[in-house]
Amino acid sequence: MRPILLNPGPVSLSEGVRQAVAQMDLCHREPEFFELQDEVIQGLVDIYQCDPAQWTAVLVGGSGTSAMEAMIASLVPDTANVLVLENGVYGERLSRIANIYGIRHQALEAAWGDKIDLKALADLLSSGEFSHVLAVHHETTTGRLNPVDDIASLCTELGVLLLLDAVSSFAAESIPFEQESLQAIAATANKCLHGIPGLAIVLCRRELLQQDIEPRSLSLHLPGWAEQQAKQSTPFTPPVNALLGLAQALKELNKQGGWEARRSRYRNLAGQVAETCQKLGVKQWLPAEVSSCVLRSYHLPDGMTYNELHDGLKQQGFIIYAGQGDLAAQLFRISTMGEISDYDMARLVQALQTVIAG
Ligand SMILES: Cc1ncc(COP(=O)(O)O)c(C=O)c1O
Repeated sequence: MRPILLNPGPVSLSEGVRQAVAQMDLCHREPEFFELQDEVIQGLVDIYQCDPAQWTAVLVGGSGTSAMEAMIASLVPDTANVLVLENGVYGERLSRIANIYGIRHQALEAAWGDKIDLKALADLLSSGEFSHVLAVHHETTTGRLNPVDDIASLCTELGVLLLLDAVSSFAAESIPFEQESLQAIAATANKCLHGIPGLAIVLCRRELLQQDIEPRSLSLHLPGWAEQQAKQSTPFTPPVNALLGLAQALKELNKQGGWEARRSRYRNLAGQVAETCQKLGVKQWLPAEVSSCVLRSYHLPDGMTYNELHDGLKQQGFIIYAGQGDLAAQLFRISTMGEISDYDMARLVQALQTVIAG
C-alpha cells in the first residue's frame, strides 16, 4: 500500500491526478501545451474569484522557494524599503532572499510560533519609512496562521504594498485579495492545490509586472515568463507534467466545492487527529484557534523520541514530519493536506493509538 503523506507537501495524490501526470508525452512548444497553460492560469485566478483584468498567475518551474524568490526578485524595486514579518523558518527565508538581492529591509521578529505584534507593526508602518511588507500567511514551521486580514488592512490604510508567502495556504485558507495593499502571493502546485512538485506559482496584480525593474535573475524574472505566457509561449522548458497534474487537481478542487470546502475538510481531519492525540495525552504545541487548517504541531509523547514515533507510524503506512531547527527535539507536525480518505483517517487514529499507547 502507498504511504499516506502527512508532511506539509508534497501530498498524497488522488488517482485522477496521478493518472493525469503520466497521461501523455507533451512538447512544450505545441498548441496543446499552450491550451493547458492557459487553462491552468485561468483556473488559478478563478479559485478566489480574482478579476482576470487585474490579476494573473505566472507559472515558473521550481519549488515554493522559487515562487518566493521570483516574487521578491522581480516585483520589489531597488527603491523599496521592506519590512519583513518573521515568526518562523519561512519569514526568515523571506529576509534571506531580500538580503541576497540587496533589497533594503528590516525584520519585525517574533519567536517561532509566537504571534506577530500588530501594534508594533502599526507603529513601524506609521513611520512612513516602509514601502513594502513581506509576510508569511501560514507559518508551516509551527502551524501558526498569521492574521493576514489585519496585516493587509493595516497596509492598505497606510499605503504600504503587501507581498505574501501563501505557499502552504493557497487554495485552503481565506486570502484578502480584495485589499488594495495585497499585490502578489507565492504558491506551489504540490500543497493545498494537490498537484505534484515542480511548479512555482505567483499570483499578482498585472500592474506590478509593468514596473521598470531590471532583471535580477534570468530564470526567475516574472515579467519575462508572464509576457511569453500571455502570448501562448514560454521562455524556458516548463514542468509539463506538473501542469498536467494541476489541471486535473483544479477540476477536482472545483468539483469538491472550492477552497472553502477544502478548508472544512482539512479542519475536520485536523480535529480528528487532535482529538486522538488529546486522548493519548499528547499536547498541542499551539492552540487550535491560532493554527491553520493545514497543519498542527504537537509535543512529542512523554518518553518517546521523534524517530521512534516517525518510524512506528511509517511502519503503519503514515509519514509525519519533524520540527525544524531547535524545535526538532520538542515537537512533531501532522499535516492533513492532500488526498486523505475517511478510511485513511480511521487507520491513522488506530496507528497513533498503537504506536503511542502501545
Ligand atoms: C510557508 C512556506 N513557504 C515556503 C516553503 C518552501 O517551499 P519549498 O520547500 O517547496 O521550496 C514552504 C515549504 O514547506 C512553506 O511551508
